[in-house]
Amino acid sequence: MKTVSKRDLNAFKKKCYILAIESSCDETSAAVVNCGREVLSNVVLSQIDIHKKFGGVVPEVASRNHIMAINNVVNEALEKANVTKADIDAVAVTYGAGLIGALMVGVNYAKALATSLNVPLIAVNHIRGHIAANYIIDKSLTPPFNALVVSGGHTALLEIKNYTKQKMIMSTLDDAVGECYDKVARVLKLSYPGGPNVDRLAKQGNNLITLNYHDRDKNNFSYSGLKTAVVNFVANKTDKGEEFSSADVAYTFQTLAVKQLVEKVVPKVAATRAKTLVICGGVSANSYLREEFKNACDKENIKLIVPPLNLCTDNAAMIGSEAYFKLLSEGAKACADDNLVAVANLPL
Ligand code: KG4
Ligand code: ZN
Repeated sequence: MKTVSKRDLNAFKKKCYILAIESSCDETSAAVVNCGREVLSNVVLSQIDIHKKFGGVVPEVASRNHIMAINNVVNEALEKANVTKADIDAVAVTYGAGLIGALMVGVNYAKALATSLNVPLIAVNHIRGHIAANYIIDKSLTPPFNALVVSGGHTALLEIKNYTKQKMIMSTLDDAVGECYDKVARVLKLSYPGGPNVDRLAKQGNNLITLNYHDRDKNNFSYSGLKTAVVNFVANKTDKGEEFSSADVAYTFQTLAVKQLVEKVVPKVAATRAKTLVICGGVSANSYLREEFKNACDKENIKLIVPPLNLCTDNAAMIGSEAYFKLLSEGAKACADDNLVAVANLPL
């Protein structure tokens, strides 16, 4: 497969159209991004309506729908960007972490496309992509900065040292915060996707319910105690045939889940030299989380960057952005070869 020369890299500083592909879960997405920060198009085809009736993402069904959709989604991204395949300088693709069958659709498609166009292929870590969404919305953002990743699989505070290296400052000892949102949604019988529905219902609650659990560690995140306390509360009430307010349960869970994040993250960031915090991943779409971090960061003079909703959830533009900075930092080392495969549990 094609790699890059120093001359290519020099030219890419001025113009570099990357066609990016994302298919790690239940969104088929393709985007055209110029020089990592200028989004020419970002097409996202969500499978939410398909998976809704099963109460969650069915991996096999997701893979099949990616296969059916990917070619049209890519063509639409090119059309919306007003470019042709001949204008594309590189292809980028999410190769992990995610559902293996879903990832394989994107990776195989991207390998074939990059080969046929004779352009480099850049393989991107999905989580680094979520972080890169912030390069799109803040054109002056450059490492070092701090990133809080809150998604279905991650709850982690990272120090982003440069475009390819990061240091873990804090992570979860057990569940990810998004996973708990989804679990709480299920016990409250809210439909999939759970997070946004808990977010909406919490707005109708106003009584803080007393829940019995303790924080396992002040220096790391932990969500299984809070999750179990909510599950037990609902099970107890149901067993006894007692009425309870689902809105108050959602309100209590959300208040405590976000409080833990704010109380652990903000002091750590305030103590760093780079007083900048970016928040990313699906849960960063949460309205209460956005509000609470804004208030707490303002008090500590921390510059807070949170992407708009369409860049919080899975999309290919963020993959195109990360790919560009990886390519410019690593050059030929960033270019994938024929051995590229999807990796379901790719670490950060
Ligand atoms: O980043 P993402 O789209 O996929 C992963 O890489 O995990 O994140 C999905 C997670 C799910 O757990 C979903 O419930 C949660 O993000 N989520 C939300 C909201 N929107 C999505 N959680 C709370 N409030 C929201 N508004
Ligand atoms: Zn994601």
